[in-house]
Amino acid sequence: MPETVFVLNGPNLNLLGTREPEIYGSATLDDIAGMLEDRARELGLEIDLRQSNHEGHLVDWLHEAQAVGAKAVLLNAGAFTHTSIALHDAIKAIRTPVIEVHLSNPHTREAFRHKSYVGMAAKATIAGFGPLSYLLALEGARKL
Ligand code: DQA
Repeated sequence: MPETVFVLNGPNLNLLGTREPEIYGSATLDDIAGMLEDRARELGLEIDLRQSNHEGHLVDWLHEAQAVGAKAVLLNAGAFTHTSIALHDAIKAIRTPVIEVHLSNPHTREAFRHKSYVGMAAKATIAGFGPLSYLLALEGARKL
């Protein structure tokens, strides 16, 4: 059985492709899923990519990642990154390594994006490379 990497996406990321393309680019979440699946196949890994606009779903999926023995979680929590102590606690509550991912670089944007409750608990952060951030995070995850 190949090891699975969870790729969890938070609010508004279902709109990638049409959402503020000058910031987030033109790739859709399906495009990103396809790119990750191609690379995962080469690495002998499996991708389980999900998206929700609801914070609790992301908490449940972090717990599930540990319960099913996922190799790692790539987490783009969207705006919950900057607000969610529940996600911070969930990351701390599991032993599965979590890599924080962002398309944009939040540190070059509004001040309210400079604080990351996810990043404070995550193993590592990759940001600012557009869709490539996910691929770089997968490369990191395979080495864990
Ligand atoms: C984001 C950055 C967040 O600040 C923002 O709220 C998002 C997307 C990114 O991938 O660049 O929804 O996580």
